[in-house]
Amino acid sequence: MTDLSRSLPTGNDLLAEIDRLRKERNAVILAHYYQKPAIQDIADFVGDSLELSRKAAETDADVIAFCGVKFMADTAKILSPEKIVVLPDMDAGCSLEDSCPPEKFKAFREAHPDHIALTYINCSTEVKALSDVIVTSSSAETIISQIPPEQKIIFGPDRHLGGYLSRKFGREMLLWPGVCIVHEAFSETELLKLKAQYPGAPVAAHPECPPTIVDHADYVGSTSGILQFAKTFPGDTLIVATEPHIMHQMELAIPEKTFIGAPGADGNCNCNICPYMALNTLEKLYAALRDLEPRIEIEEGLRIRAKRSLDRMLEMASGTIGMGDLGNRA
Ligand code: 13P
Ligand code: SF4
Repeated sequence: MTDLSRSLPTGNDLLAEIDRLRKERNAVILAHYYQKPAIQDIADFVGDSLELSRKAAETDADVIAFCGVKFMADTAKILSPEKIVVLPDMDAGCSLEDSCPPEKFKAFREAHPDHIALTYINCSTEVKALSDVIVTSSSAETIISQIPPEQKIIFGPDRHLGGYLSRKFGREMLLWPGVCIVHEAFSETELLKLKAQYPGAPVAAHPECPPTIVDHADYVGSTSGILQFAKTFPGDTLIVATEPHIMHQMELAIPEKTFIGAPGADGNCNCNICPYMALNTLEKLYAALRDLEPRIEIEEGLRIRAKRSLDRMLEMASGTIGMGDLGNRA
């Protein structure tokens, strides 16, 4: 457990202490785009789920301080078991992971033995171990396009991402009924009002959004895809339908453009801030580097089983294996 009762530095001292501990521990601080700006600013690397997985697999640091949610820190530990992986707040979960208990997922798989399980990275280590290939929102399309059209697919746990891919590729998939509570909270009515207020402003949406939002989007993609779109679209105002902390990177990279967060149901709520991501703070990051706790631990047999589906994602995402390997899964 992180001990926050011991005295904590504040202000610039806190930033300096995090920096000192990072060097002392030979630690790398990885942060997701949904983290608070202060955490993004102090991180060594900020990225989407795929980029963060790659960084975790490649780094030669001794410690990974993962500023994101638990399934992301678990992924780092699965890929880099020899490293100490700390998560500033162990309660930083995910509604998608919660929607998919391993025993129910196992029964679902067993009921459909002719299907492969293509599973969104937003799930537990146990569910990864029960899956054939993991995908992230930025690797899913590349990976699906390598799977033979006749191969039947279970997609979980995000039914909106699964539905989006199913429509885009014109292939049926059995969808697990999970949702992200953050992307589910966008309001179509409010979005249409905003579009009327800013005619000509394109909408960029994450595929975790329901079709009522995605259908109004000019661009649909992962957080890194949305950031790239923000840098390259020709206009000056963009409506952003994903967790609003990503706008920090947009404002840093393109300060001359205007970014407006898509609204939730009452038009002005904080319901699109991920409550799990928000649990991490600079103080907890400092304490995690100081105490090397809370630490991710994964039983070795489980880790090896989960690593197979993650490795397959990393290979397929970079096009280094073909679909034949998928058919040979153990
Ligand atoms: P990406 O950063 O991979 O687009 O994922 C978004 C997300 O939901 C993280 O929880
Ligand atoms: Fe999970 Fe949604 Fe939060 Fe991402 S934004 S961590 S999918 S609850």
